[in-house]
Amino acid sequence: MTRPRLYVTRKLPPDVETRLARDYDAALNADDAPPSREAIVDGAREKDGLLVTVTDRIDAALIRALPETVKIIATFSVGYDHIDIAAAKARGIAVTNTPDVLTDATAEIALLLMLGAARQATSAIATLRSGQWKNWAPTGMLGMELTGKRLGILGLGRIGRATAKRAGAFGMEVHYHNRRRLDPDMEAGAIYHDDIESLFRASDVLSLHCASTPETRRIVNRETIALLPKDAIVVNTARGDIVDDEALIEALASGRLAAAGLDVFTNEPNLHPAYLGLPNAFLLPHLGSATRETRNAMGFRALDNLDDFFAGRPPRDALTA
Ligand code: DGY
Repeated sequence: MTRPRLYVTRKLPPDVETRLARDYDAALNADDAPPSREAIVDGAREKDGLLVTVTDRIDAALIRALPETVKIIATFSVGYDHIDIAAAKARGIAVTNTPDVLTDATAEIALLLMLGAARQATSAIATLRSGQWKNWAPTGMLGMELTGKRLGILGLGRIGRATAKRAGAFGMEVHYHNRRRLDPDMEAGAIYHDDIESLFRASDVLSLHCASTPETRRIVNRETIALLPKDAIVVNTARGDIVDDEALIEALASGRLAAAGLDVFTNEPNLHPAYLGLPNAFLLPHLGSATRETRNAMGFRALDNLDDFFAGRPPRDALTA
């Protein structure tokens, strides 16, 4: 039996590539260089499907340029803002993602960002590593305690709820905004706000967990930052473009906000350079799902979707159904 032909844009974990090589005629990316648009179209030649990641911009023009043979694009990610789903659907190409499996890893990073931002970890680590730490001081390097603070979650979906659960263990009071209020069992005691203005006003720490959509892009901007309590903290594990960088940088530089913890950036890896000079910005290079367990699970979930598709079954995570 001939195996489906796949173009894989990035190097994947070894166990995932072993399964890929066993079940597919797969063109792998051994040196892991992110392919250009042209290289993706070229790599897709005579392939039945693509296995892509968040670093590949699969927009309408690229989708139109794909060969007729391509019938599915499986993304190794839960987010799919890098893929024009409508354009894929219009060409009859299925698209799948990898939800659920990165929820816990991403929630852990959200807590790390909260703690790192609240305890001024960037400047504290810099002080220690540069040999400037002279002694323990009663008034030195003071941060904010999370215990008893209000955590505002924008987007109480899977990752938002996992973050809320962990924040509850830290003694935080959880508030949230979604377009629709959740059932009480999903809320698990979180306090609902029916607009973001009310949520922002109630957030000592604001954690972003919504998808990047036309409605949420730059939703954290000068006007909405002004609603946050003075000395609030902004945490972002969702997508960089939910935040207006200039506005956040201004608020951090002026001290209007105490700190930010950011794992995702507009135009990453080329983040706004001003972040790098801010001692109150605790920054990570998009590590949300970066655990061995989760990256394997993401790969296996993407492969389960491909297996279903090529066996004629509806893939569990179809976005174009
Ligand atoms: C995703 O899967 O969308 C994440 O951003 C990758 O960590």
